[in-house]
Amino acid sequence: MASTSPPQRPSQPHGQRPRILVTRKLPDAVEARITRDYDATLNPADSVFDADRLVRESAGHDGILVCSTEKLPAAIIEKLPPEVKIVATFSVGHDHIDLAAAKARRLAVTNTPDVLTDATADITFLLLLAAARRAYEGERTIREDRWGRWEPTGMLGVHVTGKRLAILGMGRIGRAVAQRARGFEMEIHYNNRSRLAPELEQGAIYHEDPEELLSVADFLSINCPSSKETYHFLNADRIARLPDGAVVVNTARGNIVHDESLIAALTSGKLAAAGLDVFENEPNIHPGYRDLPNCFLLPHIGSATLETRHAMGFRALDNLDAFFAGKESRDRLA
Ligand code: 8YV
Repeated sequence: MASTSPPQRPSQPHGQRPRILVTRKLPDAVEARITRDYDATLNPADSVFDADRLVRESAGHDGILVCSTEKLPAAIIEKLPPEVKIVATFSVGHDHIDLAAAKARRLAVTNTPDVLTDATADITFLLLLAAARRAYEGERTIREDRWGRWEPTGMLGVHVTGKRLAILGMGRIGRAVAQRARGFEMEIHYNNRSRLAPELEQGAIYHEDPEELLSVADFLSINCPSSKETYHFLNADRIARLPDGAVVVNTARGNIVHDESLIAALTSGKLAAAGLDVFENEPNIHPGYRDLPNCFLLPHIGSATLETRHAMGFRALDNLDAFFAGKESRDRLA
């Protein structure tokens, strides 16, 4: 029978509670569990730590709970005080942490997969539909009181149902996007590091070569991790391979797209529209996006539902609990 009692407090060998630095303001229920179980330093002002502050304030802590706003390249990991033994990130993406440097320093790293899959796939579809059907332009027309009359040829967008959806990166989120696309009777194509088993593929068409995938993309959804290999993947040459009038959606990481090239293609009409939740150097995004009416822009809110942010926080805490209890965590990256 499932126990209803709260999990045991993790214990340190000397009987003290582990000391955890939490770099951002997290939902109340998550912070309540942190302060119940740990000697926690919270950040109620939610100020973003720069690298120096991260190193400085980590002193005296056994672990740090970070978000993707805190960058941990090798140079910072090497400077972390020796008492810091684990970094638990409140994110599935871990491109902000140099895992090789963490391994070399024997620093444990965990992330929060699975729990944000649905929220991110939902927002992928929100972006896809909004970009295709010109939601931003329509919204503005009403709010600026410019809706003069209904027009048979007004605000024509890109038809979604039955079109070809190309998914770059068929991990958990890519597969959840595919699941939603089936409801729109879309033909699903994908590229992934390796081909999926038939039960996961569910009829989706595999393209070993990502460039070949682009040629069938009426809609391109970027769902792969950010890495050296995917950096600026969607550049001018690859955009040229997309069918004319394609729609690009990105809910993964901004640096997979070369901004100048995407902006040029949206300006020239090569691409019909884009829907973007993530940007290179966010929140300081390329200003060219702001002037494009055929771009639907969101401020990195793919996982922003209370349920999901609770689940992410609890998952990060499960990982810390396991680590300090000397158990193996399912989400251990390093
Ligand atoms: C998070 C994300 O909200 O989990 C991720 O990788 O991109 C986001 O949905 C953010 O990174 C929190 O740290």
